[in-house]
Amino acid sequence: MSNMNFHPKRRLAVLISGNGSNLQAVLNACSAGQLPAEVVVVVSNRPEAFGLERARQAGVPAVVKPKLPGQSRQEYDAELAALVQPYQPDLVILAGWMRILTAAFLDVFSGRVINIHPALPGMFPGTHAIERALDAYHAGEIRETGVMVHYVPDEGIDCGPVIAHRSVPILAGDTIETLTDRVHQTEHKLLVEAIASVLQLAVPPS
Ligand code: GRF
Repeated sequence: MSNMNFHPKRRLAVLISGNGSNLQAVLNACSAGQLPAEVVVVVSNRPEAFGLERARQAGVPAVVKPKLPGQSRQEYDAELAALVQPYQPDLVILAGWMRILTAAFLDVFSGRVINIHPALPGMFPGTHAIERALDAYHAGEIRETGVMVHYVPDEGIDCGPVIAHRSVPILAGDTIETLTDRVHQTEHKLLVEAIASVLQLAVPPS
């Protein structure tokens, strides 16, 4: 391969707190060559997060970083940044990361932190977004929900500049399980597309 054609793989750090199905989608896209990138570290604030196991299975360093009692958010975030920085990520992906990050973390990775949220822009920020969407549907307030990927410039909750979003229909017979499943399927595709778009990588259609 000539030097002109050689592009080093982009380096992704993924922060999780739970199941890690979005992490898995990114790992799969990387290993399938769909995303010319590699996950260089996965960090969880929760030791029991299943996503840590997904990282280990993929041969990716899996680091547990719980917030200690008495530690301030800023202290924790500064330590988190110091933990992630040596991996030199091009992008930090919050994929089910359940902590609000302060400037002590965000300023270290300025313009390089993105988050996935299971609702359309401006809708249902915070936790239980899918349940709240289903409740709003039953109340006749909405007919669809969706997912979005956005930049995280500050402590605002699920509200930074939008990179990509996609609608997800809510169907008459939906339960929280069926709707959650449909939302997650959409998330897994949109997250990979959004990463490619941010890093200006070409992604073959799946
Ligand atoms: C996803 O719905 C994500 O949008 C939200 O938390 C959930 C994490 O799911 N922020 P998983 O851990 O990726 O399976």
